[in-house]
Amino acid sequence: MNCRSCGMPNLKPILSLGNMPLANGLLKSPEEPEETYPLDLVFCPDCTLVQLTGNVDPDKMFKDYKYYSSGSKTMLKSAADLVEKTIASEGLNKDSLVIEIASNDGYLLKNYVKAGIPVLGIDPCQKIAIEAMNNGVPTYIKYFKLELAKDLIDSGMHADVIHANNIMAHLPYLNDVVEGISILLKPNGIAIIETPYVRDMIDNCEFDTIYHEHLCYYSLLALSMLFNRHGLSVVDVEHLSIHGGSLRVTVSHNAERYNERVYTMAASETFTLDDYRYYEYFGKRVEVVKDDLSDMLYGLKSNDKHIVGYAASAKGAVLMNYCGIGQYLDYVVDSTPAKQGLYTPGTHLEICDPSKLLETQPDYALLLAWNFADEIMSKEQEYIKRGGKFIVPIPRVRIV
Ligand code: TYD
Repeated sequence: MNCRSCGMPNLKPILSLGNMPLANGLLKSPEEPEETYPLDLVFCPDCTLVQLTGNVDPDKMFKDYKYYSSGSKTMLKSAADLVEKTIASEGLNKDSLVIEIASNDGYLLKNYVKAGIPVLGIDPCQKIAIEAMNNGVPTYIKYFKLELAKDLIDSGMHADVIHANNIMAHLPYLNDVVEGISILLKPNGIAIIETPYVRDMIDNCEFDTIYHEHLCYYSLLALSMLFNRHGLSVVDVEHLSIHGGSLRVTVSHNAERYNERVYTMAASETFTLDDYRYYEYFGKRVEVVKDDLSDMLYGLKSNDKHIVGYAASAKGAVLMNYCGIGQYLDYVVDSTPAKQGLYTPGTHLEICDPSKLLETQPDYALLLAWNFADEIMSKEQEYIKRGGKFIVPIPRVRIV
């Protein structure tokens, strides 16, 4: 395979997690057949993009997407703040147009609608898009592609602002989408793009964020090369704590909007994130987590301890399958009603309401959503008071 971004053939292996089921592919019964696909991470020395080698049919992952952005308070607050800032900086009004790619349930665009600014959302998931429309956000139920961008232009649309949050990681055909953004954007318009930062994934050993939905893992250098190829420049960058660490880049045709922050961050990545040696040892660190975790759980189980999983997250599916630890867990709890009664992919553990934790008082709960560690542990004070302990697997295995 050639690089998804620059097309060069020199991809170098970083890590192989083996054959895995889809991380969000929850099962209706433990006997339901499931497909597995290889999960191999590689680095492109030519444009620095970290990426997966294979593609899974996007419809299998996104047509029945269960993730509602409005479900998270952090996401809502971050979206409202960003909209307020953008309206002011761009001087947006009733004659402007804001487009969001992967607009989900309208969690972001509804803030523009409230301010009287015309918007268009684009999202392939019908159920979620209908929810957006019910919230007053006009939405096309489609994948965003160059072809669609051309159709929009033909119908007279040009965007002052394009948002694309947590979509860059999912794109099999990057250049097609970025060219679409490029032609749709007005000469002084901006695209604001958020995507998980590969530096955080590597430094914090967040290997459980590697799954088939996440095809690309970006540095600022990789993003810059991608956008430059389509006549766009990265003119600003921020490092956010959201989703275990993300980049928010602003890109524009107007390179004069350039902020020094881009130079500072690019300089911090040079000779580090563009060097294969930075990624080479990641695989070894991941193996240490796998060995430590399976040894610990094996030891506890040999002493007749009861262990459950906390959160039926995609990250949890990767962790349990890669580490081969499903055999040590009795069940998994998750607060999402739509997940309860289903079974975890690959490991086939029943997903139960978190109240089961106090009913059965297992000795240990393995935290499968470390991104919500504080929130979950403060919610489960009673379990802890009664002697229950949490095992946190990442960045290194520990009991808290
Ligand atoms: P999420 O953050 O979406 O991660 P991923 O992208 O890896 O799926 O998933 C977190 C899961 O944790 C989600 O299914 C809801 C669950 N959860 C609880 O069960 N209890 C809680 O208090 C919180 C905050 C989340």
